[in-house]
Amino acid sequence: MSERTTERKWWQRAVVYQIYPRSFQDSNGDGIGDIPGIIQRLDYVKELGIDAIWLSPVYRSPQDDNGYDISDYQDIDPMFGTLSDMERLICEAKARGIRIIMDLVLNHTSDEHRWFLEAKKSRDNPYHDYYVWRDGEEGAPPNDMKAAFGGSAWEWVPELGQYYFHQFSVKQPDLNWENEKVRREIYDMILWWMEKGVGGFRLDVIDQIAKEPDLGITANGPRLHEFIREMSRETFRKGDLITVGEAWGADPERAKLYSAPDGSEFSMVFQFEHIGLDQQEGKEKWDLAPLSLVRLKQVLAKWQEELCGCGWNSLFWDNHDLPRIVSRWGDDGAYRVRSAKMLAAVLHGMQGTPYIYQGEELGMTNVRFADISQYRDIETLGLYRERMAAGYDREDVMASIYARSRDNARTPMQWDDGENAGFTEKEPWIGVNPNYREINAAAQMADPDSVFRFYQRLVALRKEYPVFVDGRFELLFPEDEKIFAYTRTSGRTRLLVLANFSKENASCALPEEWRDAQVLVHNCTADLDPATGKTWRDGALRPYEAVIALR
Ligand code: GLC
Ligand code: CA
Repeated sequence: MSERTTERKWWQRAVVYQIYPRSFQDSNGDGIGDIPGIIQRLDYVKELGIDAIWLSPVYRSPQDDNGYDISDYQDIDPMFGTLSDMERLICEAKARGIRIIMDLVLNHTSDEHRWFLEAKKSRDNPYHDYYVWRDGEEGAPPNDMKAAFGGSAWEWVPELGQYYFHQFSVKQPDLNWENEKVRREIYDMILWWMEKGVGGFRLDVIDQIAKEPDLGITANGPRLHEFIREMSRETFRKGDLITVGEAWGADPERAKLYSAPDGSEFSMVFQFEHIGLDQQEGKEKWDLAPLSLVRLKQVLAKWQEELCGCGWNSLFWDNHDLPRIVSRWGDDGAYRVRSAKMLAAVLHGMQGTPYIYQGEELGMTNVRFADISQYRDIETLGLYRERMAAGYDREDVMASIYARSRDNARTPMQWDDGENAGFTEKEPWIGVNPNYREINAAAQMADPDSVFRFYQRLVALRKEYPVFVDGRFELLFPEDEKIFAYTRTSGRTRLLVLANFSKENASCALPEEWRDAQVLVHNCTADLDPATGKTWRDGALRPYEAVIALR
């Protein structure tokens, strides 16, 4: 099938912006971001040129895991506003050509969800079988499976003489997808949101719904794709939606099923193979290792090539669970602006649907709170407790947290250089990154060379030149340890993305054909490096220099 003649879906040409509502904009002075706050900032998001907003959960929730523990799928948490605020958001976004993507957490509910409150009343309650229970004795759980946020994955309920299964916190009991009634309830709920006019869904840890705890299976259970196809047939396929599954366990073969062009499952998935490259093999994300650029290129190129024509990629560096990319693989010191732009160019030049996480478009950085009491994330606090108890050095534990804590991405959005960065008038729920006086949206809107303006340009280029959507990917210089370069080809149109991923000068034998190519975007003001008398056209790149050129 020729890439050029394939008909594209709207979401294949789209760019998505992720909002973490709690940290975006507070409108009522309680220190917590909310839906009216998002509405106030829609014009800012619109200015970036994006097509859709993925909203992290705003449903009613006890907030044990910041809303990923839902107690009512069909209501909004009062902390974030009301259902009519949500309807207004959908409507106001639509008026600006922006669709709203809801976050669906279907692997588990909150333990305060009506279904679970019923389920634990008795073994013969009609809701009992909505969750995953095993008989047992106190102190002797069915097996030694661990929960993602620490401790056993089994929680004892003495009244029932049974354990329930939870892959995340004890307040997030796993739903039993084997039960058809559970699936029906979920589909009805999804259809209800579709009727409200939402534009799509992101599906939280979707590869974990078909668990088989007796076999120790969490991800990629035997009935996974059967469940997803049924859900898709009963819900998503009735509309023209974007759907993206979060799938930590996906390899390209599975991703081809998830994102099959016949639409039988999802539009695409988030895969995380590149995200795990800077941790020690076989260890946890907290066990840091340096990134090999050669490996990163191999992995990303593999996904580009494998899914081309038979699936679809999502493209992302950041989300609410990951550290800030400029701190992680760029340089958040002297080269912050240039390296943030370089990372953006490398990502947005690829084939797939790009996702921008709030603040990434400003080059926001990781945070270093001095004391653990300043952290809020359940995972971070669990890690600290476990490692301190296990006798790790406090310094080492804090170093892991500084590099990897999810709170790095959750500090308030930096709007301006006023108090609390313009996020709230009162005490924010988590500290503002002290660098907000230098890094903020107001300053960047006023500066044509800002990271914001660079992202805006990349989004616009994707709309202007179909080669960004259609072009076939080819990696250049795979063995080079500093340069990340590739071409995209669609018919006679070709793009070059050429980037120096290091803080030193770098050079390569750039093919002649690019000598007189037209520059679409470049993160250095002049082509010529006065220090060397050379330009990227000679294959000479300054630290973190990046260019996208067309011929
Ligand atoms: C996903 C979410 C994360 C949450 C977890 C449990 O990974 O992105 O924030 O803690 O699922 O719902
Ligand atoms: Ca608020």
